Amino acid sequence: MTLHKTFFRQSLSNEKKRVLLGITGGIAAYKVAELAHTLSQGVVTVQTVMTQAACQFITPLTFQSLTGNPVHTDLWESSASNFMAHINLSREVDVIMIAPASADFIAKLAHGIADDLLSTLCLARNCPLLIAPAMNRQMWENPATQRNLAILRNDGIRMIGPVSGIQACGEVGMGRMVEPAELAEAITVFWQNRCLLINKKIMITAGPTFEAIDPVRGLTNKSSGKMGYAIAQAAVEAGASVTLVSGPTGLAMPAVDKFVAVISANEMLAAVQHEIPSVDIFISVAAVSDYRVAAMNAQKIKRNNHNLTLELTLNPDILMTVATAPNPPFCVGFAAETENLLENAQAKRIKKKLPLMVANWAHNAIGSDENELILLDDTGEHVLPRAPKIEQARHLIEHISTFFKQ
Ligand code: CTP
Repeated sequence: MTLHKTFFRQSLSNEKKRVLLGITGGIAAYKVAELAHTLSQGVVTVQTVMTQAACQFITPLTFQSLTGNPVHTDLWESSASNFMAHINLSREVDVIMIAPASADFIAKLAHGIADDLLSTLCLARNCPLLIAPAMNRQMWENPATQRNLAILRNDGIRMIGPVSGIQACGEVGMGRMVEPAELAEAITVFWQNRCLLINKKIMITAGPTFEAIDPVRGLTNKSSGKMGYAIAQAAVEAGASVTLVSGPTGLAMPAVDKFVAVISANEMLAAVQHEIPSVDIFISVAAVSDYRVAAMNAQKIKRNNHNLTLELTLNPDILMTVATAPNPPFCVGFAAETENLLENAQAKRIKKKLPLMVANWAHNAIGSDENELILLDDTGEHVLPRAPKIEQARHLIEHISTFFKQ
């Protein structure tokens, strides 16, 4: 998950923006000269760092001339004050864009390898990273590359492209770098989006709850927590102050303002109610267990040669409790259904008094890194086609922000 919370908070609307352009070895490197030129025309200061392989395709002098700044290629640059070019460079910019991002460089990013200036400053960065992959279609399709891309998405690194088309080698397929004008546009959109929910406080519940039956057994729901964690990350990126209340998951704690770990539905409700009066937006992604055992057994229940009956008690409906209280925050629910998706989701939206309900098929959603979502609100249905959960999360946050536009 991203570590760049403070960056997203800054409003740079009237400030000079600083981009570090990282160029790796690929024929598309020649196109990046146009990107450097476009960015330098606007209110952007461009620093360029090239790998040795990139210098085989285009010279540093080209970028020095276009950006008006020296181009860096050497980790051991003696001109850098304190000999720490990798730290200095990564601290002096607001965003890093790697274009083209070769398969080799993507592999290095995915595994934290730092063996040259660009890979080292990426590892040392405290700002967001955007990458524009470019490679031969077979390299793109290779499972190793796809695995590495999945790691990067999960780490909050944004990918722009690639697209399909004729490649430098003459083959046709996926792996062409997105055109420079679109990359410049992507940077602009990225800047706009990071202010979408500035000054808003968001609370998100995620993961399953676990209701103990005895000291070693329990009732739970299938939920990886990935969607809720992705939404927390997207909300941070949009400038919000984020509290994530999470049931037990195997995920790393994301960089949010406040993380509250809970186990049971009652604990989750207590954590939510503790902060809800100051919350602007409540997004209830957790797969809350609707029941718990009426009385937890203090000792491990022993196996006997007969069936066992457990008496279950209804748990609170956390979302409905929040949404139907006086002066509720803007409430968003998630409905994972196994049948009649839209009817069931719509019925829950009305019953729980939600301005926005997110409908998804349980078999698509649970445990997967991708999902298809349908957003249901007063204006109708908005389909977000199947995509990685982090991208869906960003679209959802964008949609939510439209409710707050003046
Ligand atoms: N939810 C909740 N507390 C519960 C049950 C659900 O906060 N005890 C929230 C979920 O986080 C989700 C929404 O309500 O945002 C819908 O959850 P779902 O389990 O689909 O709905 P239920 O109302 O429990 O309906 P059912 O299990 O009968 O499908």
